[in-house]
Amino acid sequence: MLIHDTIASLRAVRSKAGRVALIPTMGNLHDGHIALMKQARQHADTVIATIFVNRLQFRPGEDFEKYPRTFQADCDRLTAAGVDHLFAPTEGEMYPQPQGYHVHPPAAQSDILDGEFRPGHFVGVATVVMKLFQIAQPDVALFGKKDFQQLMIIRNMVNELNLPIEIVAGETIRAADGLALSSRNGYLTVGERKEAPKLFETLTKTAEKIHSGNRDFPQLERDCIDFLQARNWVPDYVAIRKKSDLQLPTAHDAGLVVLAAARLGSTRLIDNLEV
Ligand code: PAF
Repeated sequence: MLIHDTIASLRAVRSKAGRVALIPTMGNLHDGHIALMKQARQHADTVIATIFVNRLQFRPGEDFEKYPRTFQADCDRLTAAGVDHLFAPTEGEMYPQPQGYHVHPPAAQSDILDGEFRPGHFVGVATVVMKLFQIAQPDVALFGKKDFQQLMIIRNMVNELNLPIEIVAGETIRAADGLALSSRNGYLTVGERKEAPKLFETLTKTAEKIHSGNRDFPQLERDCIDFLQARNWVPDYVAIRKKSDLQLPTAHDAGLVVLAAARLGSTRLIDNLEV
């Protein structure tokens, strides 16, 4: 695997790369990321991963500083997964001057759910992803479904801005007990790690109730919140939404997703389940 820390070095390989797949990450790679790398190989001649902890998508007081940086272990995993190139720029390379131009997704998509609790987060995500797309010029880019809202926003950005990039979604990879793999799971204490699968458990029960005909979505959301609060979680939201645009469903809509974000101790976990 070739490692590039400058835009010029990555661009120099583009013309000989054939069909290119890009997998943007912030590092601290787990099996979910590695599954995306392997999936990418089915779509492209050349697989490029990126590692960049993007300050722009963190709010003051969030975990930008303590976000786990495990570069050597990440490189080993990417090499073993057969990734061809890694783009791992410095902040100075990505943001040589304060970023003045930003991609602002529509508020209806970016100020809801995670965007309500992390104002500006999706502006930071859309802006860095747009920059990575311009830098790597991929034919296809892969993102995990665990960040369901992020995936929807990137898909819509690509469609509305006519970017010639196919967006491919990777399934959420879970630990044996159901916990969705995430770099932030590493923040959990031993006791919290045992409790953490309860988030997926309550989403699963909710999905089952919807499947068996319960369409009282507000009550189902409240039940999840009560369940989590009773176990000392601090939920930001539990929301049953339409998969297509994450807007509120009517009682007759199909194609739903249950999404949740909740704090366990000082760790904020997100998860979702399609119904
Ligand atoms: O999902 C992530 O890891 C990040 O939001 C992304 C897409 C790499 C942008 O920084």
